[in-house]
Parts: sequence; structure tokens; C-alpha cells
Amino acid sequence: MTREKVKDAPEIIAMPQNVRFERDADRIATVWFDVQGKSVNAVSSAVMAELDAVVRELEADPPVGVIFASEKPGTFIVGGDLFEIWNADEAGLDAFLARGQQVFDRIAALGVTTVAALSGDTLGGGYELALACRHRIVADVPHSRIGLPETAIGIIPGWGGTLRLPRLVGIEAGLKLLVTGKTLGPQEALQLGMVDEVVPPDRLLDEARRRVLDPKPRPTTMHPAAEEDATACAESCDRSRAETRARSGDHLPAPLRIVDVVEISYREGLAAGADAERRVLIELLRGDAGRNLLRFFFLRSGGKKAAAQRAGGRPRDVKRAAVIGGGTMGAGIALALARTGMDVQVIEADEAASAAASARIAATDGGKKPLVTTDWSTVAMADFIVEAVVESLPVKLDVFRRLDDVVRQDAVLASNTSSLGIAAIAAATRHPERVIGLHFFNPVAKMPLVEVVRAKQSSADAVATGVAIAARAGKIPVVVNDAPGFVVNRVLFPYLREAAAVFDEGAAVDDVDAAVRGWGMPMGPFALLDEIGLDTSLFIFESLAAALGGRFATPPSVARAVACGWLGRKSGRGFYDHPQDGRPTPNSEWPLASGGRVRFPPTDIADRLLKPMMEEARLVLADGVVESADALDLASVLGIGFPAFRGGLATFAGLAESPDRYSSKRPPKEHS
Ligand code: NAI
Repeated sequence: MTREKVKDAPEIIAMPQNVRFERDADRIATVWFDVQGKSVNAVSSAVMAELDAVVRELEADPPVGVIFASEKPGTFIVGGDLFEIWNADEAGLDAFLARGQQVFDRIAALGVTTVAALSGDTLGGGYELALACRHRIVADVPHSRIGLPETAIGIIPGWGGTLRLPRLVGIEAGLKLLVTGKTLGPQEALQLGMVDEVVPPDRLLDEARRRVLDPKPRPTTMHPAAEEDATACAESCDRSRAETRARSGDHLPAPLRIVDVVEISYREGLAAGADAERRVLIELLRGDAGRNLLRFFFLRSGGKKAAAQRAGGRPRDVKRAAVIGGGTMGAGIALALARTGMDVQVIEADEAASAAASARIAATDGGKKPLVTTDWSTVAMADFIVEAVVESLPVKLDVFRRLDDVVRQDAVLASNTSSLGIAAIAAATRHPERVIGLHFFNPVAKMPLVEVVRAKQSSADAVATGVAIAARAGKIPVVVNDAPGFVVNRVLFPYLREAAAVFDEGAAVDDVDAAVRGWGMPMGPFALLDEIGLDTSLFIFESLAAALGGRFATPPSVARAVACGWLGRKSGRGFYDHPQDGRPTPNSEWPLASGGRVRFPPTDIADRLLKPMMEEARLVLADGVVESADALDLASVLGIGFPAFRGGLATFAGLAESPDRYSSKRPPKEHS
């Protein structure tokens, strides 16, 4: 969107850096956001000060109406400046929040028609500004998100969102949105009443002007009729708290505290609600969970950049990719790559395997489809090749030898191996410097992490290409060294082994799983072992034990299960029975040790399982397998589901650097 779209050669009233303000011949004011030096608009205290000044001018000389819009392509406003929020002291944060609340209240009280013309992502403080306007018109921009996602990063909205949203869409829908932090696309937002109208992008400003000039103005957002009675509100709040506890226990304070704020605002009024909103946000940021979750948000959003820096080289431009092996992983990887717009060929061993791979790929909908073939000559065209054949060194060596004969000299080759050394695989080629590991997780479509493995001889450009490919595929890359188990399996398997030890002492699988879930893991260790497959787990235990010693020795229960043909979910039975329909139940044929179920206190179980994982984390960092505690935190949360509210594995184990470093990530101030 550009300023030129405002009709009748607008008169520029003020030209500060981030918030522009102009009036046209119809005396309609348009307030433009364009935060300098950034690709998106985030509201810092400097931006808020500019907006405050603009609102003062609007109050002094009221226009016919006001339109709020963004000059950034693809985004309206993505929220408050989180780095500023992170770094502020308590008094500074309270002042930042209070000023935002006051400015938005004054916008709501302007007494002229106000229209938020939303184009692209409208999140957090951006949507709070829209809520303070009388009307919200949205451009139908694909993939754009609207809403208040704060609870997902451990905090709550602080500029009146908790007060205005439930009063706009109703308390039930409002609580649901606030508690979950769910954001919606334009059409869904329209259905819920979060916005009034969805229009084609090129009509946005004309429709906004039409709204301003409409002789029959619609009611404002904060009309008293929308106040629901305090009893009904209390019931909704109790229900919301119960649902939240059932979903995530008491670990996540933000979703529970946001309900308190809503309740206060209905019981004691908007001013009390506004005070509670600020107070709770400050409290959350002082607590461990809130700080950990916000820090994790920084780690995750900076993950691609950090990995690119760690790689050091220049990524190769990849237009064509080939995937060798179209099994569980190969098919998933091929689809993920095809979705980026690359041409993707999948090479399979024979016609029968090709048919199976084609069926796997065809089962998912949408996007460009990878082509499956047995013809290796097509690989000669590829810029990037990922191998995902069975986990066997001789088979992989054979594949890399063949690749070496056919690929272009500048192609980058990657293996998706989860337990073999990349250097050993690369040794089959004449140019081992172009070979890396690219370890996707199962299921590829869902798992956000990719370990990009740098072997000793891997060139920086090859590693950078792996990082770029993973990022293009929508994943978070973490660069790791070529060490047994890389990072994720290396810290995971000692924990799984300890779970098996507790089981061998007589604990029931569901007790162990429940204890660990209660601690915050998304899934218990036995459910996870059954998902990975007990044969695959046995193989990983054996290869890690061979490389790293007895602390990875295969647990007897895993070996026994594999000998019985109990391979986990894929065979219908493992530590659990997996009926076709219905929930898994503990394997009924597995006799309990010592003649009965031994009950361990859940906290003891969690402590026991986490201890070897933390010890391995220390070794992984000491060995330099992963660059930093930050990278380990990221990998553990995204690869294992280690709870982000506990900071990630390295932080939990006391191995993290001082979080104050985030101040150095803050870009230099470019505005006055
Ligand atoms: P899979 O057994 O499902 O698929 C292997 C595919 O490779 C089969 O379709 C087979 O026909 C094909 N293949 C075998 N030899 C070939 C050859 N010479 N040329 C072309 N195609 C050939 O195996 P999966 O589970 O997909 O694993 C593949 C790789 O990914 C392994 O290295 C494994 O360790 C790794 N991995 C597996 C994960 C998992 O959870 N399944 C997770 C992460 C990595």
C-alpha cells in the first residue's frame, strides 16, 4: 500500500520517521505506520510517542474521520516491540504499557469515525489499535493473521486487548481467543466478529474512506450494551480456567492470569481491568515461565539467522532437488522441498518401491508434486540431493558412490541418517567437502527442527546451503557437528534408557508417562519409544553405545520387546498395545517385574529421567557438538518437546548463558 492511494493530493501535516499523518481534501486524516529500518511495524516507545503526538493533533483539530494504515507491504503492525518489553525494568515497562493504554483510549474516544485499514499481519498491539477504532476493515491477503497471540509467548496483551476483545466478540469467544493466543485469517476473523469487513487488497483504502463518509455510523466497539452481567462472566471465566488446566496443567501462568484480568474488568470496571492488565503482564515477565517463553520466542525467530551465521558460507542457489529413497522420511522431505517451489525428483530402488513412494506422496494434498522415478540420470540436473534410504552404511555408501558419478560438480549432497557418521558416508565421494547431514524428524510435515550436520571436511558453503534449504522448507535449522547421535538423539536416549530402567524396577509405563507429562513433556518416554519403533530404538542404542559407551547400553526391556516382535505402534504392540481403534493401553502380555506394580512418586520419576539427559547436555556442550546453550535449548524444545516454559534443556540444566545478552541483539536505534 502506498500513500499515493489517498485521493486528492494530501497535504502532509507532519513527517516524523515512523508514524506519518496527513489530511486530504475531504478532511479525512490518514495515519500511516512505517517503522524505519525494519521490514515490519513493531511499536516501540518511540513509535508510541509519535502516535501520541499525532493523536494530540487529531484531538486539537478533529478531522471528519481517521484511517489507520500501514505502508509496509504484507503487514499492518505485528505488535509491541518485544525486545523493549524484555529489556525494560518494572517502572519502565509500566510506563510503556500505561502510555499505550492511554493513547489507545484516546483514539477510542476521538468522537469521529475511526477505521483500521488492515493489510497483512495484524497482531498483538496492532490488533489492539484496531480494537480501539470504531471499524476494522481487512484486506483479503493470503496467509495474513489477525489476533492477540501473546499467551503463546508467555505474556498477555498490555494495551487494552484483554478488555476490548471480549466486549467486541462476546465473553465466551473472547476468552477462547485470549487464552489460546489463537490468530485467525481474514475470513475466520470476520465470522467471529473480530473485523467488520473483508475486501480485496486494492479496495482497502477506498472502502475505509467510504466507511468514514458513511452517514449512518455503526456503534463503537466499547458500547455498554455489550457488557455481560458479572455472574455470567464469572461462570465463563471458571469454565475457561478449568479447560485451560485440563489442557496444560498449572505450568503456563499466562492463560490462567489472562482470565483473571478479564474477570476483574467485568466485575470492577474498565479502569481496574486496565490496571490488572499491566500488573499481570509485569508479573508474568518477572516469573520464570513468562521469561523462558519470551526468550524462546527470540531464539526461535532468530534461529535461521543464528544457523546461517554459524554455517559461515554462502548458500548455493537451489532450483532443482533430488531425494534418494521415497520411504517415510524421503517422501516427507520431498514434499517439504516441493512446497518451496523447487522441482523435486525422488529416486527409488525399483518399480514396486516407486509405486509405494508415489502413493505416499499422492496421499497429501496441494502444491507441486515431486516426481518419482528409478532413473538416476535425472539426478545430474539437481543442485541439491538428499539421501533418505535405509539406515545401513553399505547401502548409503553405495548410493553416495553412484551420486558421485552422476551429480554436477557444484551440487551439494546431504544424508538424512540419524545414527551414521557423515564423514564416513562422505568418504565414498571424491568431493567430501560438499557432503553434509540434513537430519529431518518424523513426521517431517509436523516436526519443526532440522539438524544440519557439519562433518570435518564439509565446506562452509555446503553447510550454509543445508541451513537455507531447511529454512525454505519452513523448518528451524540448528548446526551441529558430526558426532554420534548429533544432538537430539544423544540427549534423548539416556533419558529413554532411564525410563526403561524405572520400568524394569516395576514401575508401570502409564505411571511413568503420566509423571513426565505432568512435568511438562508433551509425550511420555514409553509412548515415544513406541512411536520411534523399538527396533529403530534398539539400533540407535547400539550405535550410540558402540561410539560413546555403556551409558547408552540397550535396556533389557527394549531388547526383550524386539525379540518378541513387539516393535511399537507399527506392529500394534510395544510398551503399549495399540488397537486399530481406541487408545493405547499398557501391553497386557508384559509381566510386571517383582510380581506387581511398584509406585514411585511422580516427581522422583521425572527427576530420575531428567538427570542423565542433563548430564548428556553438559557433555554435548563440552564436546562442542552444538555451538551454544541457546542452540541446545532450541533443539531440545523443537526436537524433543522439552518444555519451553522451563527454558529448554540447557537452561533447565543450568548451562545457559546470561539472558541479558538479548540487549545486544537489539538493532541500533534509528529513530529519535
Ligand atoms: P524407509 O524404510 O521408510 O525408506 C527407505 C526408502 O529407501 C524405501 O522406500 C526404499 O525403497 C528406498 N531405498 C532403499 N535403497 C535404495 C536405493 N539404493 N536407491 C533408492 N532408494 C532406495 O526408511 P525411513 O524411515 O524413511 O528412513 C530413511 C532414513 O532416514 C534413514 O537413514 C533413517 O535413519 C533416517 N531417519 C528416519 C527417521 C524415522 O523416524 N523413520 C527419523 C530421522 C531420520
